[in-house]
Amino acid sequence: MSDINSLPLRDARAVVHGLTNLSLHAQRGASVIQSGKGVWVQDIHGRDYIEGMSGLWCIALGYGNERLANAAHKQMLELAYYPLTNHKSHQPVIALAERLLSMAPAPMSKIWFASTGSEAIDCAARLCWYYWNAVGQPEKKKFMSHLLAYHGNTIAAASLTGASYAHDKFNLPLPGFIHLTTPHFTKNGQAGETEEAFCDRLIANIEQRILAEGAHTIAAFFVEPVMAAGGIIVPPAAYYDKLQRLLKKYDILLVCDEVVTAFGRTGEMFGSTTMKLQPDLLVCAKALSSAYIPISALMISPQVYEPIARQSGELGMFGLTMTYSGHPVASAVALETLNIYEELNIVEHVRQVGPCLVNGLKQLESHPKVKEVRGIGLLAGVELTANHGRECAKLVEEEGLIVRAICDTIAFCPPLIISEAEIQELLARFTKALNRL
Ligand SMILES: Cc1ncc(COP(=O)(O)O)c(C=O)c1O
Repeated sequence: MSDINSLPLRDARAVVHGLTNLSLHAQRGASVIQSGKGVWVQDIHGRDYIEGMSGLWCIALGYGNERLANAAHKQMLELAYYPLTNHKSHQPVIALAERLLSMAPAPMSKIWFASTGSEAIDCAARLCWYYWNAVGQPEKKKFMSHLLAYHGNTIAAASLTGASYAHDKFNLPLPGFIHLTTPHFTKNGQAGETEEAFCDRLIANIEQRILAEGAHTIAAFFVEPVMAAGGIIVPPAAYYDKLQRLLKKYDILLVCDEVVTAFGRTGEMFGSTTMKLQPDLLVCAKALSSAYIPISALMISPQVYEPIARQSGELGMFGLTMTYSGHPVASAVALETLNIYEELNIVEHVRQVGPCLVNGLKQLESHPKVKEVRGIGLLAGVELTANHGRECAKLVEEEGLIVRAICDTIAFCPPLIISEAEIQELLARFTKALNRL
């Protein structure tokens, strides 16, 4: 590796980077990360950083976990691949599906596997259509989601995403995707409005929109229990209760996107439990394998699955298939990940150390550059005064901490295994950067 310092520029020419200014990237090249251990990563120049974002909200067990590497190694030698088509199966996927069903936060009867969160979200949308066709309501085709929601970047997932960067110049969203007000009380509440009145107003607006579109045309509402990439937004406690009643009233399916929140992040195994959601379909990914290998899962409730199965019997086949659905190596790694969460009692750990992160950041609310601090479990956002996000993230990185600027909100989503001492170190580094801002 004699020419290691030329790697960033070589990389700048060869790889297309998401959420990156591609013109700027061609000039500055990439920061190349070489290795990781626990919550720490090291770049090619030997600089250490705390990985305050778990990569992209995903490396929940931190870096260098030998058990996960061994699970992959063993399964690759035993049975590296087998498809699930035409009644075939293998033990890792059977065990993983049963394990996930036993953990589900609402009654679920089947699991569809894919490789990424976006794919599973697209599959959820397709299953909603398939379901409504099966029960004789083929006009139910439209989807609702929130402005600023992030549901992924395949075509349906990007259409559900309520952010212009996923749409502009990409010819998205597709028709039939409806975005509603973000349930962010401190930002979208009106002067003098209580939290309860705010929720009532938003729900009344959604009801109006449902009636304007025709309830017989709305297939499903997609929600993130806690909105992550939209800037760490925790909806008011009453909001989802009222929303669920509305969806029941108009016979609209609820899909919970737990790609970030599943497996302990919010202080419960699932964000649906934290936010008292009872989804018809639930998507998880990321922490399912602690990001050691791509795998995502779509949980399907019995009331949705039964008509799907019946219709596929009538058609002679269920026409959804993906080469890597339920990949044995990914399934084995996911199973081992779930074993480790159980052994570490990861949910209890998050409940113990989460307040250290969120309360530590809340102490910065009096800082002149800080507007608001939000968070739950090991997920937090520090909203800065206008136009400071990018500059702050850069200074934070200079202090040896990797965070993400979402507009003016600095997001924190450290590996779930982070210790209290490491959180103190993270807070010290962030405070130092904030004081330099
Ligand atoms: C809530 C949510 N849903 C879906 C996705 C898409 O997952 P993926 O990037 O694995 O396709 C993400 C990715 O960050 C996400 O945060």
